[in-house]
Amino acid sequence: MPSVSMAKTPSDLSYRHVKIDDLDTIANLETNSYDPDEAASRESIAKRIDIAQTRPALFLVATAHTVIEKCDMELGLCTQEEVETVIAFVNATLTTSDLVTDESMRSHEDNGTTVAIHSVCVSPQYRGQGIAQKLLDNYLDGLRAAASNGNNKQYKRVALLSRPQLVGLYEKAGFKCIGQSSVVHGPEPWFDCIIDL
Ligand SMILES: CC(C)(COP(=O)(O)OP(=O)(O)OC[C@H]1O[C@@H](n2cnc3c(N)ncnc32)[C@H](O)[C@@H]1OP(=O)(O)O)[C@@H](O)C(=O)NCCC(=O)NCCS
Repeated sequence: MPSVSMAKTPSDLSYRHVKIDDLDTIANLETNSYDPDEAASRESIAKRIDIAQTRPALFLVATAHTVIEKCDMELGLCTQEEVETVIAFVNATLTTSDLVTDESMRSHEDNGTTVAIHSVCVSPQYRGQGIAQKLLDNYLDGLRAAASNGNNKQYKRVALLSRPQLVGLYEKAGFKCIGQSSVVHGPEPWFDCIIDL
């Protein structure tokens, strides 16, 4: 059966909380986007998705939608189906530290008030179109909404480690990059970036 697919433009992206079914796609995106010693394992990502089932604002995905038209030539019948693909994500866990630390990268402290971002990731074919910027804006809006809601008033700050060349991206999203982190990982220095909610 011949089929035609039609991708929407990036402005048609949607944002939603992560689902357990997203694990394979997200684990692949992470592996394809970071050096092997930086990429989170599938197991760590599964844990973060699990934490997000009770703390949804911590893990946001951006999805693209493709309309696939399937035609049965014998019957002369065509049907359209919309397929959703996760093309970007941002995830975090909580820490009782003010900044991202070696410890916060390994563990989730459910009583923490700092949202420690682990990964901001856009699928290679969608990069350079402002998607990370929009994803971060949506993510921060979601955290602010959660922070002002009765249950999650505990979220006070968001912290991340930036590569030197990405400080501008995070500053545009409203983060303040306050200097080189004490965390050492790989050859590049990392910069502490924070935003108080
Ligand atoms: C970093 C990453 C998330 C950027 O995603 P993106 O959708 O291409 O970013 P955007 O298009 O929203 O770019 C926003 C701004 O950041 C800048 N930027 C993005 N990637 C950059 C890079 N690699 N180097 C320098 N500047 C960059 C853009 O130039 C843009 O600035 P402008 O508005 O002044 O032009 C994406 O390249 C990625 O997933 N990389 C692999 C994972 C990673 O390294 N994550 C960051 C960990 S700190």
